[in-house]
Amino acid sequence: MRNTLIAGNWKMNGATSANDELVSGIIAGAPAAENVELLICPPFPYLAAMVAATAGSKVAVGAQNVSEHAGGAFTGEVAASMLVDLGCEYVIVGHSERRTLYGESSRDVAAKFASALDAGLRPILCVGETLEERQGEQTETVIDEQLDAVIDAVGIEAFGNAVIAYEPVWAIGTGMTATPEQAQEVHAHIRARLAGHDPVVAESLQILYGGSMKGENAAGLLAMTDIDGGLIGGASLKAADFLAIAEAAAQG
Ligand code: PGA
Repeated sequence: MRNTLIAGNWKMNGATSANDELVSGIIAGAPAAENVELLICPPFPYLAAMVAATAGSKVAVGAQNVSEHAGGAFTGEVAASMLVDLGCEYVIVGHSERRTLYGESSRDVAAKFASALDAGLRPILCVGETLEERQGEQTETVIDEQLDAVIDAVGIEAFGNAVIAYEPVWAIGTGMTATPEQAQEVHAHIRARLAGHDPVVAESLQILYGGSMKGENAAGLLAMTDIDGGLIGGASLKAADFLAIAEAAAQG
């Protein structure tokens, strides 16, 4: 059985005192269930403080982005080895905001995925279609392209140390959630595509859903066979909201 991973993507939100309050609330209310894993992904400047604040708790810390380069003259970039040095365990790669707003191609995302793995980080690879692509019945084509770029670059075995997040772009920050059935259909497709390369890796891979997940809709989504957690934006910024999702995971 796969554990359920409830991951908070704080995006560009936070401040020292607000983060302390948020993380202490999460730690205090974290469900004891061993099959529920919790993760927070704060902005870079707060990672070290959040690693210190979560020490000894069940809350892991990850970053939201990483350089594809190992080090050197890349002003403003952060290497995967630095994230490991700080105590991060995960990094999000290929979030749709990075693909759309910062022009990251699937090749760039694959390079970031590879550099994260090389350093010993667990990448969370985000994939997902826009509303236009869904309406044009392009969902599977788009997701296959996003997945294949990474599989081709790093090989299927690498997914043994990775997580995938299916995040329909039309559901991110919009309040429009995919129905459990819509999400399950895509999750099953992703798992089948990976199983075509290696069924064992595909079976153990955690596939998270992301896009307006909240306490009220989490149970229905998490009940689906191929949904193994959530990547949560808006509802990860208040301890009570994030814990409501973690609680739904623990009850499931
Ligand atoms: P949302 O964001 O939960 O605010 O829709 C999810 C994400 O972008 O990871």
